[in-house]
Amino acid sequence: MTQHATTGASAPSTTRESVLTALRDVVDPELHDNVVDLGIVRSVEVAGSEVRVAVALTVASCPLRAQIRDDVERRVLALAGVERVAVSVGVMGADERAALMDRARHRAQDRAVDTGIPSSARVLAVGSGKGGVGKSSVSVNLSVALAARGHLVGVLDADIWGFSVPRMLGLSGPLDVVGGKMRPVALPVGSGELRVVSMGFLSGEDGAILWRGLVLARALQHFLEDVAWGELDYLVVDMPPGTGDVQMALARMLPRAELLVVTTPASGAEKVAGRAADMARRGHLRVAGVVENMSGFVCDHGARYALFGSGGGERLAEAVGVPLLGTVPLDPTVAARGDTGSPVALDGSGPAASAFRAIAERIAVEVAPVVQLAGCSARMLARVEDAVGPAPTRG
Ligand SMILES: Nc1ncnc2c1ncn2[C@@H]1O[C@H](COP(=O)(O)OP(=O)(O)OP(=O)(O)O)[C@@H](O)[C@H]1O
Ligand SMILES: [Mg+2]
Repeated sequence: MTQHATTGASAPSTTRESVLTALRDVVDPELHDNVVDLGIVRSVEVAGSEVRVAVALTVASCPLRAQIRDDVERRVLALAGVERVAVSVGVMGADERAALMDRARHRAQDRAVDTGIPSSARVLAVGSGKGGVGKSSVSVNLSVALAARGHLVGVLDADIWGFSVPRMLGLSGPLDVVGGKMRPVALPVGSGELRVVSMGFLSGEDGAILWRGLVLARALQHFLEDVAWGELDYLVVDMPPGTGDVQMALARMLPRAELLVVTTPASGAEKVAGRAADMARRGHLRVAGVVENMSGFVCDHGARYALFGSGGGERLAEAVGVPLLGTVPLDPTVAARGDTGSPVALDGSGPAASAFRAIAERIAVEVAPVVQLAGCSARMLARVEDAVGPAPTRG
C-alpha cells in the first residue's frame, strides 16, 4: 500500500539520518518503543525532496496499521526540504518479529520495578482469558506440589478483588510488617515452604489505602515492592480472570514472568485462553506451557468420561507452540479440599493429585528448573541478568 502527500517546504538538506531521527518520535503505542529501534522502519530512501519509507508491521491485520503509517508520513513531511513522502507498508518475517520482541523485552526490563523477589526465582503466572477454569486451583496445587519437592515457593494472589488463595490454603492474615516490609504468611509443606501474599490478608489501613487507590496495578506493585519475600525458588502468581490491566502490569513490572495458560477441553475456553496467550506475547511474557483442567471425569472404576469435550489443551498448546504440561481431570476432591483449605496436592491420592504432582515435576525438571546459585559464577550470572534482562528465549 502506498500513500502520497506533499508540502510546500523546500530546503535541500534532508538526509537519511535526519529522517531516521524524526521517525524516532513515532512510538508504537503497544510496545512503547520507537518504530526505528523496533525495526518497524525497514528502509529510508531520500531522492532530492522525495522520501520513501518502507515499514513492516508485525502482522498484516495490525490494528495500528493506519496510525503508524500516518504518523510516519506526518513526521517526515514536517522535515524542512521534504516535499513528497511515499510510505509502503509490508509485513515482518519471523526473524524480524523475533528481533522486535527481543528488543521490546529488553525495554520492558528497563522499566521493571525494584522487587524483593530474588533474581534467581522463576516466576510463573497462572492465567487464562476466562473465569472459573481453575486458575486458582492450579496455582495453589502446583505451588504445594513444588514445595513438597523441597522448594521455597512464593504465592502471589494477584486476583485483588476476587482473591481465593487464602481460603484454598486455609490461611488468614494479617501480614506482619517488619522494617516497613510485609512478611508473607508462611506454610511449611514437606521439606519446602509456601510464602503467601493476598489482598485477603490485608485489612484495616493497608487495605483501605489500596482500595482508595482503586488501581489494580498499584496493588500489584505494592505486593512486588513492599513484601520481604526472602529466598524463593519459585513465585507462582494467581492471575485474575480476563486479559486486561493486571497481566499488562505484571509484564511491565516483572518482565521475566512466564505464563502458564489454563484451559478446559472445550473449544470456547480454549479460544479465550488463546487470547490470554496473545496478550502475554504482546506484553512480552513468555508462555511456558498449557495446563488443561477439568479434562474428563474418572469414575471409581477407572473409566474416563470427557464431560467438557476433549483436546482443547492439546490444540491450544499446538497453536501457541508450547508444551501441554499436563491434564488435570475433574475430581470432586479438588473443589471439596479447596473449600476446606487443604489442597489435594498436599496429601491426596486421587487422579487430580497425581496430575498436579506430575505437572510440578515437569516444571521443576524440564520447563522451569531452578537456577542453582551454589557457585559464585551463577550468582554473577543472576546479577548480570538483573542488569540486562534474562536470555530472551529458551528451547
Ligand atoms: N479439576 C477440578 N475438578 C473439580 N473441580 C475443580 C477442578 N478445578 C477447579 N475446580 C473447581 O472449580 C471452581 C473454579 O475453580 P477456580 O476458583 O480455581 O477457578 P479460577 O479460574 O481461579 O476462577 P476465577 O476466574 O474466578 O479466579 C472451584 O470451585 C474449584 O474448586
Ligand atoms: Mg481464581
